[in-house]
Parts: sequence; structure tokens; C-alpha cells
Amino acid sequence: MKTSALFTLASVVSSVIAACDPPTARISLAKKGLNPNGNVGAAYFMSNEPSGNYLISSLIGKDGKLSLYEGLYTSGTGLKGVPGPPVNVLDALFTQGLHRRIPARPIPRQRQRMLVQIRSRSSPSIQQNPAKLTPIGKPVWSGGEFPTAVAITKAGDRLCVVNGGAISGVSCYNVDTRKGLTPIRNGLRDLHLNQTTPATGPGNTPGDIIFSADEKQLIVSIKTGTGYLAIWDVNHDGSLSRTFSKVTGGVLPFSLTKIPGTTGAILSSDPGIGYSIYNLDGNKAKSPAVSTKIPGQIAVCWTVFSPASGNYYMTDIMTSQITEVHIEKSLQSHIVKQYDQGIDGPMDATIVTIGKKDFMYTLAANVTGVTVFTVDGPGNLNVFQRLDVANPAAAANITLNRLDVQGMAVFLH
Ligand SMILES: *[C@@H]1O[C@H](CO)[C@@H](O)[C@H](O)[C@H]1NC(C)=O
Ligand SMILES: *[C@@H]1O[C@H](CO)[C@@H](O)[C@H](O)[C@H]1NC(C)=O
Ligand SMILES: *[C@@H]1O[C@H](CO)[C@@H](O)[C@H](O)[C@H]1NC(C)=O
Repeated sequence: MKTSALFTLASVVSSVIAACDPPTARISLAKKGLNPNGNVGAAYFMSNEPSGNYLISSLIGKDGKLSLYEGLYTSGTGLKGVPGPPVNVLDALFTQGLHRRIPARPIPRQRQRMLVQIRSRSSPSIQQNPAKLTPIGKPVWSGGEFPTAVAITKAGDRLCVVNGGAISGVSCYNVDTRKGLTPIRNGLRDLHLNQTTPATGPGNTPGDIIFSADEKQLIVSIKTGTGYLAIWDVNHDGSLSRTFSKVTGGVLPFSLTKIPGTTGAILSSDPGIGYSIYNLDGNKAKSPAVSTKIPGQIAVCWTVFSPASGNYYMTDIMTSQITEVHIEKSLQSHIVKQYDQGIDGPMDATIVTIGKKDFMYTLAANVTGVTVFTVDGPGNLNVFQRLDVANPAAAANITLNRLDVQGMAVFLH
């Protein structure tokens, strides 16, 4: 049977810890009597906690509502970036990973390994309970010291991770749903960022990593103040071109979101200005990047697209505003509406379609919870559920810190 890796979560563990790996600790966060049957999928985020990193999973019901399920110890610990100018944000990794996040910690000889958890659609257990994750294969080195985001191919057969610390660059792997990850020959490339481990940011750090629509390029956003995209060509065997091409634009380009209906246009949130649209032709720019100001924004860093409204939603962890943007085929764009989320501190988000409705799952970092929105058409984003994670986690003795939590991944059957 053909299996496709649909979902990947990655975390970094030290070789020291791996050598005396404790048994996987699962801590239930489920309400008494919760029945995992009848779910349509699961949502996950990561504690990225320096005292022990947990993946926190919730079941998604047919109605789109979340039920907290469990915390799975990753056998690793979180590594936090050092906040610095120009924007002092509450974000530990300075990245958007869209479907996955990677925590890290410094260890002897500064080598780190990466644990990737992969579930395949045909696996019977994920059909039953996708909130119950199981590691596959052995941890591998991330190719650097501060891995912060990962891109995976549509087929789920390859992935690349970006490292933003003292050893900065990208590293690519073949994915086997039974054996795990094996490094791709000539898949390790340098970004030459002048950084430390952990990185000081958000300036001079990677923002996001994606494959282009045709998967012939690997693209990383770099927030330097005169921002740029680093673009490698991807060969048939998954290896990368020796050097990267630079496409400049924006100030602090953060998220990278492909614009559907175009061949190579990308939307990037930019906490230095608002957002930028890059129009790419392979590894070159078709036309110069166009930036648009979001008034009052401080840290607009994460972006998601809703097929239901045809619009983009960008979260700002510092102002707690969600900004909805519409982009025309011509790549002209405008702000549709802004939604005030109080002190939620929204960051990573994912939008999925359940039935005919789009649901947006957003990590509400500053209140250590998850907010579920329904997208009820353009200009009509509504809060559907506020899931408290702080109290159940505290009752179960899982340490969660609003300054550390990261990521928002969703798996649907
Ligand atoms: C690297 O960064 C350090 C600290 O900011 C700085 O002193 C040094 O000049 C930089 N090196 C290069 C090659 O840019
Ligand atoms: C985060 O929450 C605290 C209260 O716990 C509040 O004082 C603070 O303003 C919030 N921060 C942001 C950026 O919303
Ligand atoms: C949490 O830790 C406290 C103090 O160590 C202990 O009394 C309590 O039983 C623990 N609770 C759980 C759910 O493990």
C-alpha cells in the first residue's frame, strides 16, 4: 500500500539524552470520559520548554472543536532565542514553520539531532487516534545548532530544515515512514549568517522555509533589515545547488505563503513594515517585491490562507491583531479588516476545511491556549472556541510558558 507522510513534527534532542533515552512519557490532558472515536483529526503545538519539551495534542471533533488529549515528551528540551532589536518579540524561535516546529538545546560539542515524527494516512492507529503520536526512526543531526523550521514535499518523501544559530544553513533528508530520516547527499548548504547559538533575533535570522509550488526550488526568508529570500535549486535526487540566489525585498521578511493561482508569487509577513509580495520566476524575481504597511503593527509574523474566503490572515503576537488581506490575480492587494484579540498574543496558525467550513487554529501564546476561529466569508472571521491549556497542563505537571510555546500543526484524516 502506498503511504504518504502527511504530517511531520520535528524536535531536537541531544545525543547525551538519546543515549540514555527514558521511556516515552505520555501525560494525559484529556477530560474524564473523553471518547477519541469520531474525531476528524488532531491539532498539535510544542511547549519548547527548556526543562523538557512536550508536544501537546488535541482531538478535532466533527464540529471543528478541540478536546485536549495529551502531552508527549520529546526526549529533548527547548532552546530559546535571545530577543534583540529592532523588534523585541515574545517569540522563542523567530520562525513560522506552518506545519512543524523544531526546538533545540545546546549540548556538548554543540551537535544536535532531530527527531521527526511521521504518521502515514494508511497507518491504522492514526485513523483511530491522531492525537497519539509515535516517533519513527532514530533522531538525526539537524545540520546546525538552532533548527527552527522545516519544509516538507507534497508527497511527504523529503524534507529540509533551516538552522539559524552559529552554524546557519539548510539540511535536507529523505523521509521513510518506517525508518525515519536519512540525510540527502549534497543537501547540506550554508547560509553564512553571522549568528550565535542560541540566535539573537528576530533580525538576522531565518523566518520560514518552503518548497516552491513545483518543488524545483527551496526558499528561505532572511530578516536582515534589507530582507531577502535565499533560493536554492532542487535537483531530481533532492540535492541542492551549491550556492543560493538572492531575491531582495521587504525589511524583515518572516512567513512565506504561496499565493494560489499564481506560478511563483509568495506573500511574506514583515514585522519591519507589514507584508511583502514577491513575484518569483524560478530562482529570480519576475518583478520587484512590493511592500505594504500594516498601520500600528509591531510583530506581524505568521500568515495563513483560507480557501473559503480567498483571503490571508496575519497574526501579530505583540498587538494581538489579526489582519485579513486580499490579493488580486494581478498581485494588487489591500487590507480587508483587522480583528482585535485582546491580550491573546496570537502566533502560529493553520487553516483547514472541515465539511464545507474553514477553521483557523491559532496558538494564543500569551494566554497559553488555542483559539479556534471560523472563517465565515471575507471580512467575517469569528471566534468559535477558546481552549485553555494552561490550567490542565499545570494540573498534570507539564510546564508551559507563554514565552516559549511554538507551532500549530493540524492533521486531518
Ligand atoms: C559578526 O558579528 C559580530 C557581532 O555583532 C561583529 O562584531 C562582527 O564584525 C561580524 N562579522 C562579520 C564578518 O560581519
Ligand atoms: C500578555 O498577558 C499579560 C497578562 O498576563 C498582559 O499584561 C500583557 O500585556 C500581554 N502581552 C501582550 C503582548 O498582549
Ligand atoms: C504534580 O506534582 C505534585 C507535586 O510534586 C504532586 O503532588 C501531584 O500528584 C502531581 N500531579 C500529577 C497529576 O502527577
